[in-house]
Amino acid sequence: MSGRDDPGRRCDRLWRNARLATLAEGRPGLGLVERGAIAARNGRIAYAGPEEELPGDCRDAPEVIDCEGRWITPGLIDCHTHLIHAGDRASEFAMRLQGASYEDVARAGGGIASSVRALRAVGEDELVRQALPRLDALLAEGVTTVEVKSGYGLDLASERKSLRAARRLGVERSVTIRTTFLGAHALPPDEAGGNSGFIDRLVSKTLPAIASDGLADAVDGFCEGIAFSPVEIARFFEAAKALGLPVKLHADQLSNLQGAALAARYGALSADHLEYADEAGVAAMAAAGTVAVLLPGAFYFIRETRLPPVELFRRHGVRLALATDNNPGTSPLTSLLLAMNMAATLFRLTIDECVAGVTREAARALGLLGDVGTLEVGKRADLAIWTIERPAELVYRMGFNPLHARVFEGRPT
Ligand code: NIG
Ligand code: FE
Repeated sequence: MSGRDDPGRRCDRLWRNARLATLAEGRPGLGLVERGAIAARNGRIAYAGPEEELPGDCRDAPEVIDCEGRWITPGLIDCHTHLIHAGDRASEFAMRLQGASYEDVARAGGGIASSVRALRAVGEDELVRQALPRLDALLAEGVTTVEVKSGYGLDLASERKSLRAARRLGVERSVTIRTTFLGAHALPPDEAGGNSGFIDRLVSKTLPAIASDGLADAVDGFCEGIAFSPVEIARFFEAAKALGLPVKLHADQLSNLQGAALAARYGALSADHLEYADEAGVAAMAAAGTVAVLLPGAFYFIRETRLPPVELFRRHGVRLALATDNNPGTSPLTSLLLAMNMAATLFRLTIDECVAGVTREAARALGLLGDVGTLEVGKRADLAIWTIERPAELVYRMGFNPLHARVFEGRPT
């Protein structure tokens, strides 16, 4: 973990007098360093470790920031969002408060279908404009990497528009955006061919076009009674694999369709939600190295009562990540700090699991662990600097933001 790259060249910037939660693997807990320092060179971490072991060429960096004992964690990573969407579904929320379930609303033509109509009616610029305040809320809490899914377009033009808008977020702001083509999210409202006709077109036309545009870093689906069956998702995943795109899945959220095992069979980066996953699914995920992405905002917002099988994940050694699932229907949440508090309170995750879940494990869920997610030499110098006395405060507070500074690729933002 401690060490240096490219010795002899002066570092650009140094953060000293800090406490570090490095999240480095192979170290106990959060990989804490009490009197720590981090140096950056060319946007990468050149040193992370005890200040007294700081190499000379980092000591005389042209810019030295005294952190006054504050804590530094890796920049936070939101590894599951639907940040690109149009309008809101507050009226549907009101219906649910009268007793309708999420599935009732979906079957009545609301739900995802209503967001599809809204997204198709607006242009790319408008999608960016609507998403930026949501993104800014995440960034204000030290987020430096965000995954953004399409899936409210569900035809080629609208999915392209969504993914382009998502990529533009990374131009408008200092943040790494990873795009996911959620091609199998729901049957669009105007689909004449039913599920099988839709999947035919998805695998023969839409997916190949999105792949050749280079607009997607991964693909995703929704395996559920109100969306697509395991057989349909498998067809989509086969096609994605043939194009070299990694897969992930909204799995076992509302019922157990063996989505966790299906995701694992395709070597998915992650399976997400998972409240109804069973032990066979958990074991399959462990064998495949598929990360479990838990989404407590959706659990809370749809008033789910079935808890994800956290104890099984631990016992089988499945890695746990946390995300906001920001979307207009089931999780209008734009706070990873609150997601951590919910995961601790509702799912009984430990402090260390919560902090790792929005840093190292979220990076793993995106296939980016080589580049971000821990404070280690050679990784991107994406940092969150917090005015806290101990890491538990990041999880403990509700609706309070202790971020002092955010650093993206070595530069304070
Ligand atoms: O992650 N589960 C499916 N997709 C979203 C909800 C989408 C919506 O209702 O608009 C989710 O919960
Ligand atoms: Fe989702």
